[in-house]
Amino acid sequence: MSEKIVSDYNGYDYKKEFWENVDREYEDQADRMAIRKLLPKRMDKFADIGGGYGRLANEYLKKAHKVYIFDYSKSELKQAKEIYGDKVETKAGDIYELPFKDNELDGLIMVRVTHHLKYMKKAMAELYRVLKPGGVAIIEVANKRTLPKMVRFVTRRSKVNPFDKKVANYKDISKDGFYNYHPKYVEEIFEKVGFKTEKVLSVSNFRSKRLKKLFGTEKLVRMENGAQQILAPIRFAPSIYYKLRKPEQ
Ligand SMILES: C[S@@+](CC[C@H](N)C(=O)[O-])C[C@H]1O[C@@H](n2cnc3c(N)ncnc32)[C@H](O)[C@@H]1O
Repeated sequence: MSEKIVSDYNGYDYKKEFWENVDREYEDQADRMAIRKLLPKRMDKFADIGGGYGRLANEYLKKAHKVYIFDYSKSELKQAKEIYGDKVETKAGDIYELPFKDNELDGLIMVRVTHHLKYMKKAMAELYRVLKPGGVAIIEVANKRTLPKMVRFVTRRSKVNPFDKKVANYKDISKDGFYNYHPKYVEEIFEKVGFKTEKVLSVSNFRSKRLKKLFGTEKLVRMENGAQQILAPIRFAPSIYYKLRKPEQ
């Protein structure tokens, strides 16, 4: 099992080091507004896959009767329990062998996790397995085909070709690096696994220190709100959100 783990967050204070010590208010707001646009209104059993300390829990707690936060990292899950108490049940494990039964969940989200996944198809097949027919998966994918990555490639500052469908494996996060995906590559996987894509959003379109300085977070968040839908057809942003449904049988 452990050879499949790409990035181990045990002992890493993701909340503090990634979200609080650095100005990522815009990115956080961008994730939240996308999730609000995509999540079903009511669900019975719901899971946040690779949910960490439950950063996004306030977006789904009121919509689901039973909420699980699933993650590999026990220290992240401990923090989630400290914050949300009985409102959530935490489950630890590896995404490639989810501790849920077949057809158990009405909905799930998986945000900022795909860049850790060496075996995308296997992970997607697991998500499909645990969803009920008719259930919904909101998946955020780390996009390799963004404008800055195109510019870096064309000006020869990066060897990673954003135009080909091959998975990009960038520098070390731990041992294995981190992965970015061509939208076509993941969309083919979704289809092969059996999902139907219902909606796509382009998210974190203005993720740039320069733009933050120029416009300020509040204005960028407003621009982001309009851009998520408009830029979706060209899969513009570093994060692409998919609303996928497991068809009724
Ligand atoms: C960048 S964090 C994202 C947390 C949360 N989804 C969010 O958006 O704030 C990635 C999370 O994925 C978890 N993770 C990475 N690989 C995993 C795997 N193979 N199985 C389960 N969880 C994994 C990490 O432990 C970490 O908590």
